[in-house]
Amino acid sequence: MCVITGAASSHGIGRATAEMLAENGALIAILDVNDGVEDAAAALAKKYPASRCVALKCDITSRDECDAARNTVLETFGRVDVLVHSAGVMRAAKFHEITDQEYDVVMSVNLAGTFNIVTAFALTMADQKAGSIVNVASVAAQRGGGLFGGAHYAASKGGVLSMTRTLARELGSVGVRVNAICPSLIETDFVAGAISPERLQELSMAIPLGRPGRPDEVAGACMFLASDLSTYMTGATLDVNGGIHIH
Ligand SMILES: NC(=O)c1ccc[n+]([C@@H]2O[C@H](COP(=O)([O-])OP(=O)(O)OC[C@H]3O[C@@H](n4cnc5c(N)ncnc54)[C@H](O)[C@@H]3O)[C@@H](O)[C@H]2O)c1
Repeated sequence: MCVITGAASSHGIGRATAEMLAENGALIAILDVNDGVEDAAAALAKKYPASRCVALKCDITSRDECDAARNTVLETFGRVDVLVHSAGVMRAAKFHEITDQEYDVVMSVNLAGTFNIVTAFALTMADQKAGSIVNVASVAAQRGGGLFGGAHYAASKGGVLSMTRTLARELGSVGVRVNAICPSLIETDFVAGAISPERLQELSMAIPLGRPGRPDEVAGACMFLASDLSTYMTGATLDVNGGIHIH
């Protein structure tokens, strides 16, 4: 049984991961703050009836809402095997332009939100003595800012990587794996709305594979880390970046 956060957005990484897991026979629950999560879950349940896809309306900045979402999953499915945590916000700004309010939004969703949702499900997985958690971080955490993420965004995703590694150490002995993915430029709704086709073309020229990534290409890496194909991997960071950051 797999929970995928940030799956309301129709062309996002979370949705592509939910699709791929459902297509491969998983039971799924999708979690998002956006009301669209209900329609998204209904569409997935219709397309993949065996997935029994349910919607979890949840703001990950609230610890109580994260615990409630976990309780709903347990009432509905009885257990949870996988958490792919993709919900997040991206913000581009030079450091001197970042307002207190913007700083707080980015940190509370990307960093505190990750802590809230991951720890809610990690406790259950620890009780089960099994589970796999995949956090979607960003190349911004590795190279000092992304192609458009500001210092607050990069710092929040750096925190996600540190948290992933710490939890991997703490949870390894109870059979729970915790890994991270670092995508770079992925053509989701956010990217389409934030940069012009000309700028995208320019950015693509600097990528060794010569193009932005697709959401399903990140979903593939998430599914690998979620699955038993990666049973000896924990605390790892998997790059899905077309070669833009080789290290
Ligand atoms: N698209 C890229 O180029 C790219 C690159 C690197 C990393 N990422 C990371 O990948 C993840 C997914 O990005 P995407 O491009 O699919 O974005 P997206 O905007 O398509 O999806 C993000 C989802 O998170 C949800 N969300 C936002 N705040 C939330 C909250 N407080 N509680 C619950 N849900 C919330 C949104 O409603 C949305 O459905 C993000 O964490 C992002 O930082 C994206």
